[in-house]
Amino acid sequence: MFELPDELVTLGMKRIEGFPVEGFVKGKGPKNPTIMLIGEAPGENEAIQGIPFVGRAGNELVKSLASIGLTRDNVYMTSAVRSRPYVWKEKKARNGEITKRKYNRPPTQQEIIAHAPVLDYELTHIAPTVIVTLGNVGLQRLLGKDAKVSVLHGQLIEHEVQYLASLKETKFIWSDEKYIIIPTYHPAAVFYRPSNRDYLEEDWKEIGKYIASSKC
Ligand code: URA
Repeated sequence: MFELPDELVTLGMKRIEGFPVEGFVKGKGPKNPTIMLIGEAPGENEAIQGIPFVGRAGNELVKSLASIGLTRDNVYMTSAVRSRPYVWKEKKARNGEITKRKYNRPPTQQEIIAHAPVLDYELTHIAPTVIVTLGNVGLQRLLGKDAKVSVLHGQLIEHEVQYLASLKETKFIWSDEKYIIIPTYHPAAVFYRPSNRDYLEEDWKEIGKYIASSKC
């Protein structure tokens, strides 16, 4: 199992202080895995349990992995941001009672920058066969804002990735090294648009084919 150094956990927590987020979920999985998965940010279940992809989206992801003969133990799971971004919203019950609760929201660019050193460290130490980005946040963290999952999903991309050159920086620069990346949709995409399941299934077939060919 790969262990994120304690200093990086402390640094990540310090850099995200003051943002409306909670918890800190470390990446999970072996070094040199077949796949490194890069998601968006933990949701409520992940923040409570401290484990990536254990909620509803995680169940979908495990099905995709199983479709190519993998389990969560074979892959390294991480995300662009490691704390759960939330927003308080009011909900009105039928009896008129108003309750306030936290809802998940996408991370902001500032939050992505705050946790960039953590993902940068994983990118240079995990050494997977292929990186699979899940949704636009993970994809754009690596390849920049112009990269769109709707255009690039299922394609094999060999490219430099964005990283933060120093802790003071607020802008990314490109790595010297190239990485193999196959973008796909976030597993939660099937909840708000069921037709995304077809794209996901096709993409995971491509990921399976690439893995099989890289073992030859
Ligand atoms: N979405 C993510 O991007 N990461 C998780 O751990 C859960 C949901």
